[in-house]
Amino acid sequence: MKRREQKVVGLFGDPVRHSLSPVMHNTAFEALGLPYVYVPFHVEEGDLGDAVMAIRALKLVGVNVTVPHKEKVIPLLDRIDGSALRCGAVNTVVNDGGVLVGYNTDGAGFIDSVGDEGLDLRGIKAVVMGAGGAARAVIAGLLDGGVAEVVLINRTKEKAVALAASLGSNIISVFSLEDGYSRAVSGVGLVVNSLSVPFRREGRWLADLSGAAGALFYDLRYGAMPSDFLDLAKELGSPARDGLGMLLYQGVRAFYLFCGREAPVEVMRKSLEDALSV
Ligand code: ATR
Repeated sequence: MKRREQKVVGLFGDPVRHSLSPVMHNTAFEALGLPYVYVPFHVEEGDLGDAVMAIRALKLVGVNVTVPHKEKVIPLLDRIDGSALRCGAVNTVVNDGGVLVGYNTDGAGFIDSVGDEGLDLRGIKAVVMGAGGAARAVIAGLLDGGVAEVVLINRTKEKAVALAASLGSNIISVFSLEDGYSRAVSGVGLVVNSLSVPFRREGRWLADLSGAAGALFYDLRYGAMPSDFLDLAKELGSPARDGLGMLLYQGVRAFYLFCGREAPVEVMRKSLEDALSV
């Protein structure tokens, strides 16, 4: 019997041990009977250059890239897609016959996930808390999705100002935690938490988000990490979602880039839910 050639997709990150991407992609490959395997590689910062060269040498189909390599990988690649240029970060690399092309599926994955919740972004106002790498991808997605206004709130105002300027949009208004932004968040349709630390309701956050009652509250974090963000949403009578949907849909888009096949979305969703429930 002729054996099919095994194709390998990798994940580069530090750490990678807790990533749910391997189970999500391997379950999808299996469900479609594709001869692919998805392998996490623990790549430390100083080894990123060698790891990228190994994509070509080992003829990997491609890799996903996660923290802390999403920005640093850019100069090591041959071509950067517009999606990644806009975000200043790559989360997916495709090996096109030795030419390494960097993409970013995070922003579009976020938009797909919000669409799944039945929210039409066109013409709405969105609040984004936090101005780091995750916020950049989300705001790029929101702008593509046709929002009317983005209210960006961050501890360090200068970072938020720089982010807004680099996205080249005049519909982003910037606030620090000290600024009075309660009026700016009223009438909002979507509130996104992109903070890298658990959201805590003490201080100014709680009071000033009460004007967002009724909006979809979307926390980019997922899993069992404690945060008051989704509890606050429930108290305000707002629908609340964690970041599992974004993880799913960035993976769905990466799957298509890796193997040119539509991803089995529900199979992948279930694999994530199962992995988190054990
Ligand atoms: P990610 O890639 O997950 O977006 P990041 O780029 O390090 O991570 O961004 C972290 C975000 O969480 C930033 O908005 C950061 O605020 P600053 O720009 O002021 O640093 C925010 N953040 C981190 N620790 C925080 C804290 N203790 N209180 C409030 N915001 C915090």
